[in-house]
Amino acid sequence: MQNPIIAPSVLAADFTNLAAAAKEIEDSGAEWVHLDVMDGNFVPNLSFGPKMVADLRPCSSKIFDVHLMISNPEIFIPVFAQSGADYITVHAEAAVHLDRIIKSISGLEKKAGVSIVPSTPVSAITEILPVVDLVLVMTVNPGYGGQSLIPSCLEKVKNLVQIRKERNLSFIISVDGGINSSTASLARQAGADVLVAGEAFFGSVNKKAMVAELKGPGF
Ligand code: DX5
Ligand code: ZN
Repeated sequence: MQNPIIAPSVLAADFTNLAAAAKEIEDSGAEWVHLDVMDGNFVPNLSFGPKMVADLRPCSSKIFDVHLMISNPEIFIPVFAQSGADYITVHAEAAVHLDRIIKSISGLEKKAGVSIVPSTPVSAITEILPVVDLVLVMTVNPGYGGQSLIPSCLEKVKNLVQIRKERNLSFIISVDGGINSSTASLARQAGADVLVAGEAFFGSVNKKAMVAELKGPGF
């Protein structure tokens, strides 16, 4: 088993000092920056938009993993692509024409991700798996950081690992919500390739040690 990529979510950072947050991620050993975009419609919270992503881009050399928790994501894909996103992930529940949206992300030469909330089964995205680069399995109901992981969601990660093998596909699997030093091992055992961590990362004093803990043994 490989150590997972760690993607700290700046949602849990101090918004008055995001450049410092980017620097903390840079110095911690984490590989990605997770950016949670919320519209107050698809989820009951607001966060930030493409300008924030674009402003943060020069502050970081890491992969920008943009998680769009928004309705009508197709409207915003070009602007997030321009803002410096590397991965753009949309929710299956927010898109009727998911195939078209995923292909429009790939067409802009960005990695395309699809996400499912806890109540959505893997069967809702089986058709799209050959054309996505990433599947983001939500392990909390999206909208807020600092919630507890719903363990049953990890069964979906195991299922996706199996499907990927059976169908010889290459998407990577990310887990988002309630990841901390005790739940990370469950996500790793389920087969997650990427662990998103908000509160666990920004709430820790020693961020390097936290990243090592999340990555697990052998790192
Ligand atoms: C939840 C977001 C998550 C969140 C994770 O709606 O998609 O990325 O920031 O935060 P923690 O790790 O605190 O659960
Ligand atoms: Zn997220």
